[in-house]
Amino acid sequence: MKIGIIGCGAIASALVDFVEKGKLDANLHCFYDLSPENAQKLASRIDAQVASDIDDLIEKSDLIMEAASQQAVISNIPYILEHKRDVVIMSVGALMDKEFHDRIQQLAKENKCKIYLPTGAITGIDTVNAANMGKITQVSLTTRKPPVSLGVHLDGEDEKVLFEGKASEAVKLFPKNINVSSTLSLASGIDVDVKIIADPKIKNNTHEIHLKGSFGELTTITSNVSSKNNPKTSALAAYSAASLLNKLNKTIQIGS
Ligand SMILES: NC(=O)c1ccc[n+]([C@@H]2O[C@H](COP(=O)([O-])OP(=O)(O)OC[C@H]3O[C@@H](n4cnc5c(N)ncnc54)[C@H](O)[C@@H]3O)[C@@H](O)[C@H]2O)c1
Repeated sequence: MKIGIIGCGAIASALVDFVEKGKLDANLHCFYDLSPENAQKLASRIDAQVASDIDDLIEKSDLIMEAASQQAVISNIPYILEHKRDVVIMSVGALMDKEFHDRIQQLAKENKCKIYLPTGAITGIDTVNAANMGKITQVSLTTRKPPVSLGVHLDGEDEKVLFEGKASEAVKLFPKNINVSSTLSLASGIDVDVKIIADPKIKNNTHEIHLKGSFGELTTITSNVSSKNNPKTSALAAYSAASLLNKLNKTIQIGS
């Protein structure tokens, strides 16, 4: 299966690292970026191609992964689905717009395509999916990041709550930081309660999830090392994308 990638930054670069190390068994065939140099840099590492535009990328790919921005999702995913290509979306925050979510779901159905949303930088989405078979009564996410990861500067050592509210609002205000709240909301069917804290005392991006429902109760804490190329992005996000691509090829599928 030929994979095309939109967005050649930290996540795409980590995918290329995995291919080079022999850990990702996927044909990353073609790269596209608003900055052609970024696409060229990654393509040249694994002898892949550079797409001149989205039509060229669609022509050269069987499945297309977005790893660019929410705007890239909104501008390109409907068109790609109309051209009958499966998609993987990293900038999941775009799907918190219900009208957009329903539109791409409908397009995928009409064109017999799949839309894959990797777990990303959190833990426990398999459990949330399973819990949703019963009744989920409460979900919350507390995200704690070093100020630099949130693009703010704080004087002193005191933490600061930057946001408290629903995921649908959080993804608009922090489009590059809180995609996981969207993944959690979509999996649970609830617009999740989100708290975002800038904490000068920590090094890692930390996501703490609490879930309650008819299954019982769950708490997970993921303490993420940042991607080496982008402090806003956790390394685990790219690991998760790579794992999903590997899973597409696997005979034995582990986890729900
Ligand atoms: N789902 C998750 O858990 C999760 C976790 C981390 C990051 N993300 C999201 O994944 C996306 C990629 O993250 P990253 O760290 O690789 O970003 P990055 O900033 O390192 O790289 C993004 C690349 O995309 C390119 N780009 C931006 N808009 C584009 C467009 N419209 N068309 C083509 N190229 C475009 C940029 O030039 C850049 O090279 C971001 O939106 C980020 O918020 C999701």
